[in-house]
Amino acid sequence: MERLDKVIASQGQYSRKEVKSLIARRRVTVDGVTAKAPEQKVDADQSTICIDGTPLTVKRQLYLLLNKPRGYVSSTDDSDGVSVLELVPRELFRQGLFPAGRLDKDTTGMMVITDDGQMAHRILAPKKHVKKRYLVTIDIPPTETMRTRFAEGINLVEGLTKPAALEIVGEYQALVTLTEGRYHQIKRMFSACGATVTALHRVSMGNLNLPDDLKEGEVRELTAEELLKLEEIE
Ligand code: URA
Repeated sequence: MERLDKVIASQGQYSRKEVKSLIARRRVTVDGVTAKAPEQKVDADQSTICIDGTPLTVKRQLYLLLNKPRGYVSSTDDSDGVSVLELVPRELFRQGLFPAGRLDKDTTGMMVITDDGQMAHRILAPKKHVKKRYLVTIDIPPTETMRTRFAEGINLVEGLTKPAALEIVGEYQALVTLTEGRYHQIKRMFSACGATVTALHRVSMGNLNLPDDLKEGEVRELTAEELLKLEEIE
C-alpha cells in the first residue's frame, strides 16, 4: 500500500502539490469513493483511481526508444549541453527517467530511456553480454588487421577491451559489435589502429534494431515484444 498522492504523482502528469489540490477539490476517487486525504493508502495494482472520472492507468515503469540526433548529451542535467531528455515529449515525460547508457554528443542512433534501473543494468552490464552494434565511418579504409585486433581485444589505458566483432561494410565503413560501453570506446579502439571516427551511429541493442520509421529526434514507447528483443543475448 502506498500514499495516494505519491501514486498519482509518480505517473508524472501532476506534481505532489497539484495532486493535493486535486484531492482537496474532491476531483479524485478511489474505487468510486471520493478520496479524502493525500496520505490515504491505496493498492495501486488493485484499486481504480480516477481523476475527474477518468481512470488513471498506473504504469510502473516506462521504456522509451530514441533515435538520437547529433548535438545532444546523454547526461540527465543540461550542464554539458542539451540533454536527450529534452526530446521526450511532455505526455511521455516523468520524473526518474534517465538514458540507459551513454552515447557521445556527436553519436547518433538508438538509445533507451527508462526509469527502470534494474533493466538498465541488465542491458548495460558487460557480464550480461547484451550486444550493442554501431555503424562506424572512419577516415581510412577498414582493414583485416583492424578486424583481428578488435577480435583479440585492444589495450586501452584502463585495460584490454572485450573481444569485439568488426565487419567491413563499405569503403570507409564498418559494423562494430560491443558487449561493453567504456568512455569513447569505439573512437579509442579505432584510434589505437591509426584511424579517426568521423561518424558513429548505434543501429541495434540486443536483438532489437533501430526501427526504420523512428526518425531522428523521435521518441516512442517500446512495445512488449521490442522490450524482450532488447534483452536477448543470442
Ligand atoms: N563508442 C564511442 O566512442 N562513442 C559512443 O558514443 C559509443 C561508443
